[in-house]
Amino acid sequence: MFETSSFDRPRTTSGDLVVDGGRPPYPAAARSVTVPGDKSVSHRALLAAMLPGAPSRLTVRNANLGGAVRALLPAMRTLGFRTTVAADTLTVEHGGPVTPQPKRPHPDITRWPDGVPYLETGGSSAAARLLIGVLAGLGRTAVVDGDETLRHRPMSWLAEPLTRLGADIVHLGDAGRLPVLVRGAVHRPCTVELTVGSAQARSGVLLAAVAAGLPVTVRHPVRSRDHTERMLAAFGATLTESPGEVRYDGGPVTVPPVVDVPADPSLAAYPVAAQLLAGDGGELSVRNVCLNPTRLGFFDVLRRAGADIRYRDMRLGSSGESAGTIAVRGGTKGVDGVRVDDPATLHALIDEVPLLAAVATTLPGPSWIGCAEELRFKETDRLTTTAGMAAAFGARIEVADDGLLVSGGAPLSAGHVPSYEDHRIAMAAATLATCLPGRTTVSGGACHRTSFPDFAEVQRAVGARITEVTPR
Ligand code: S3P
Repeated sequence: MFETSSFDRPRTTSGDLVVDGGRPPYPAAARSVTVPGDKSVSHRALLAAMLPGAPSRLTVRNANLGGAVRALLPAMRTLGFRTTVAADTLTVEHGGPVTPQPKRPHPDITRWPDGVPYLETGGSSAAARLLIGVLAGLGRTAVVDGDETLRHRPMSWLAEPLTRLGADIVHLGDAGRLPVLVRGAVHRPCTVELTVGSAQARSGVLLAAVAAGLPVTVRHPVRSRDHTERMLAAFGATLTESPGEVRYDGGPVTVPPVVDVPADPSLAAYPVAAQLLAGDGGELSVRNVCLNPTRLGFFDVLRRAGADIRYRDMRLGSSGESAGTIAVRGGTKGVDGVRVDDPATLHALIDEVPLLAAVATTLPGPSWIGCAEELRFKETDRLTTTAGMAAAFGARIEVADDGLLVSGGAPLSAGHVPSYEDHRIAMAAATLATCLPGRTTVSGGACHRTSFPDFAEVQRAVGARITEVTPR
């Protein structure tokens, strides 16, 4: 059964999401929606502006403008880039004025290195890890830091392989954590062995290697999202993949002046889930979504379990990604439960675990989401917080060391639900609430802005009644 932890106490520092659930009294306003650009591709496209071979001005179109991607912008300005945001287009230019960031105090650090740029990446682990990789490749000295939650998340996954490649990375606070001082370039061509499936760790190493023009072989336990490989290959890098490893030959890349980002499949999952939970027989399509197979686990698992979800109109875009439409018809009738029991599938839905668990609580049979030990190291311990969120609706979920066992068939009811200030938990809770009669308040739910600023608008367009309120 769900066990209590320090995550039990919801912190409501931002607004709440209020959902009036049950069958919508009016038909869905839209049968076709779009969601923001992919967060992972946006991070990588932005950082491509720092690679040798980048144009003096790089435009990233359809970028994700949530807090996690914006977290990179002050760091890039500190490094001398000019950044502009207009609608969903981000522009990065070389040669802007250097705008230093104020250092944030750390309890264990009394003396910071003098005159070194201080780069704050908020709560975004992708921003921090990928940036550390690029800096270590370029040999640029800087301190990379993050907010309180990010200072608790592991950086050794990346710092250790970079150190093997010859980088000099010093953890200034706790061992293996932020802040880190990056001060020496990778220069030793060799094979590094990653111990975790984290795509951020693998990507940080590859970006370092490409920035340095250093041949490397990266061995990995799981082939998690491969956006970095696809993007670098689209920019002309020679990468050779074989089972369990990717090899880069040290050759140059040419970054094009414009990179188009397809929509984020992790965000498409919310309107698709709302449609499945409403089960009103109509069809909903989400357009121009990144259809990279390493990201489609949520849809594939539900398809295998019997849901009517299809991919169509696939085409290749400038970031090396294919994009197309995800269409869903009907609900979850006939779906008894879902199962995830291999690491590749888990990584293909790593950010959708709270949502998949939320959908599973509405199914009649048991569900198992396994191989998920890395979920303990997300913005929150997401095994515990997913169970806490679902338990607040009355669901029965057991937390195992490496996964979640959802009993299924438990009566669920609307009510007061914690988000733990974790965007994925907040959006999963608000989506589940759309099918439960009565009012649900997801406390701190406004944290959805980290990855999906217009979450409420998109869910309203598919018939949900969601509003954001600021608690008094
Ligand atoms: C990401 C990889 C995943 C994912 C995160 C974004 C990326 O994290 O959960 O939202 O952009 O590479 P891990 O690399 O820690 O698994």
